Amino acid sequence: MPAISAIAPGKAILFGEHAVVYNQPAIAVPVHQVHVKTSVFANPKGKPDEVWIESQAIAMKSWLNQLPDNNALVILIEKYKASQGFQYLPAMRISIHSTIPVAGGLGSGAAVSVSVLRAISAFMGHPLPDEQVSALAYEVEKRHHGTPSGIDNSVITYGQPVYFQRERPIEVIHLGAAFTLVIADSGIKCPTSTAVAGVRQRWLQQPEKYDAYFTRIGCISEQAKALIESGQINALGPLMIENHQLLREIGVSLPQLDLLVTSAINAGALGAKLCGGGLGGNMLALVKPETAEDVSRALLGAGAVRTIITQVEPAR
Ligand code: PMV
Repeated sequence: MPAISAIAPGKAILFGEHAVVYNQPAIAVPVHQVHVKTSVFANPKGKPDEVWIESQAIAMKSWLNQLPDNNALVILIEKYKASQGFQYLPAMRISIHSTIPVAGGLGSGAAVSVSVLRAISAFMGHPLPDEQVSALAYEVEKRHHGTPSGIDNSVITYGQPVYFQRERPIEVIHLGAAFTLVIADSGIKCPTSTAVAGVRQRWLQQPEKYDAYFTRIGCISEQAKALIESGQINALGPLMIENHQLLREIGVSLPQLDLLVTSAINAGALGAKLCGGGLGGNMLALVKPETAEDVSRALLGAGAVRTIITQVEPAR
């Protein structure tokens, strides 16, 4: 029997990370150059609930019921079964292939959740609607870090640029013009939960100061949305630089990330900032298409271990 497969893209946060946890708006875009692909194969000879999972990205080869209860895939599949009223799943093999770097701020965890949910639900004959995919993936995000905003599962589920604010309906942003990003991996790994917990600790110590940072970041996201919609791409550059400065002030940058940002700007980028949780992971630079290669080279020269050049396009 042929496999049923589903793909989910990576993502990058253009504006508003961390502040989004404190109810400010943020903007994220899908990154289609990297993705997770999940394939589900039937096992007609197996017994109910004999679910085999393999993933080279996280070095996993296991029966689902032999994984610990707090494993992200166990949580995801249990939530899926409960949402559908299933007591068990038919015997199957789930193969997960990812090109998204783990713990790098490109949404690898949420992309695994989204692609697994889509593949299993299609295999079961009832593909889940987007809202339900996003909501179930969010449950697993909570396992990854206690207070997720929900931006990762939203942008990855919808596969389009989104303007995201907690407790508000998700808004897809209609681009006025395409734009190009160079995303660079610092090579330093830091779980999002560590960065988010550090910000929370500092916010608890100095709530007014941190609320002011978050409010300013929220204003940047709002301004950026209008510029993206009207196709004023060049004007996004200074907003990115300001957003990076604010992320430094809230304590989630590193000298290596600051160096990448400066190097990108010196090589001709319109703007640059760290993206995602910070304290490592990735940064991104907004570039004119003709300078993308120069900026990419400069970033590799300044210590990046990998770059991705990606075009964010208006939906067709
Ligand atoms: O590290 P990432 O790419 O998963 O991004 C996390 C974004 C934060 O705002 C830091 C946390 C969140 O839940 O929104």
